[in-house]
Amino acid sequence: MYKPDMEQLLSALRAAGEPTRLRILAILALGELTVSELTQVLSQSQPRISRHLKLLADAGLVQRYPEGSWVFYRLHEGTHVSGVLAQIIRHIPEDDHDILRDRERFGEVRQLRAERAQNYFAANAASWDELRARHIPETAVEEKMADQLEAHSGDMALLIDLGTGTGRMLEIFGHLAQRAIGFDVSADMLTLARSKLDEVGAKNCQVRQGDCANVPLEDNVASVVILHQVLHFLDDPQRALNEAARILAPGGRVLIADFGPHEMEALREDHAHRRLGFGDAEMRAMLTQSGLQVRETQTLSPESSSGEQDLTVAMWQAEKLELPQKENRNAR
Ligand SMILES: C[S@@+](CC[C@H](N)C(=O)[O-])C[C@H]1O[C@@H](n2cnc3c(N)ncnc32)[C@H](O)[C@@H]1O
Repeated sequence: MYKPDMEQLLSALRAAGEPTRLRILAILALGELTVSELTQVLSQSQPRISRHLKLLADAGLVQRYPEGSWVFYRLHEGTHVSGVLAQIIRHIPEDDHDILRDRERFGEVRQLRAERAQNYFAANAASWDELRARHIPETAVEEKMADQLEAHSGDMALLIDLGTGTGRMLEIFGHLAQRAIGFDVSADMLTLARSKLDEVGAKNCQVRQGDCANVPLEDNVASVVILHQVLHFLDDPQRALNEAARILAPGGRVLIADFGPHEMEALREDHAHRRLGFGDAEMRAMLTQSGLQVRETQTLSPESSSGEQDLTVAMWQAEKLELPQKENRNAR
């Protein structure tokens, strides 16, 4: 871990040494938030919160991610003061009155976000398959995924599809694995997925209700995990990648297909998107952070413009490394 010099240390301690800023750090330790969500959690005006955030960012304690008209804040990882920050957070008293109240409001903000997304999916469950084909070269993405999966189908015992929706990934790739399970939070989506899987006779496939942030599976069980057009809906995409890494068996792969960075702000309002796509550097950093080794990145752009702004689809493949033989021996 990097060590701060005296000036960096003092500036980090000064920035953290104020009640509201300490509360901001405590809340960001639970997940990334926008400025307006932070104002709701801390019950303070936006200009005040923005001022505090600027001081925290200048001191290297938080990181700012502008994306369209939203700005996300999260704790800064990998700076000279990350170790100090981790210590500060560890020492914030859990039973402090303000901290407890902030956490309660944070829970409410998360709940509201989740309800908004759920309502959207419930309302769009039936038309989702049409909706998903509107902006992107869907068949091209599926062909690329097929190539990647077929290269590993010999030993595919368990395929997991997180955020399975109408079960499209299971429908087309389920037969490559001995067993395949799709998880989704939306009961309406799962109803559609079940009837679709029955219709195509995918007997080795099943769907279950489950959150990508907390997948109801043991560690090291999956040969492949797919996240197809899911991460941009999530509060905390890093958490879903950590879960994918946890459930993957060593040598297993995660396949991600999602939008590249775009500026279609309307997708937030109209389609409950939280993130306006993902840049390659950001996705690679998240995959590395979850302990996975990036193996391949591809970007697919629409061949002809539809008149509306087109969306690029990016694909990433990453592997959970086997423990080196030497480490295995030492562990025994
Ligand atoms: C855009 S759809 C994609 C569905 C499917 N992967 C596909 O490509 O056809 C996104 C799906 O993610 C699900 N979803 C959203 N948040 C989720 C979460 N936290 N855990 C599991 N599923 C989630 C939604 O209910 C929805 O079915």
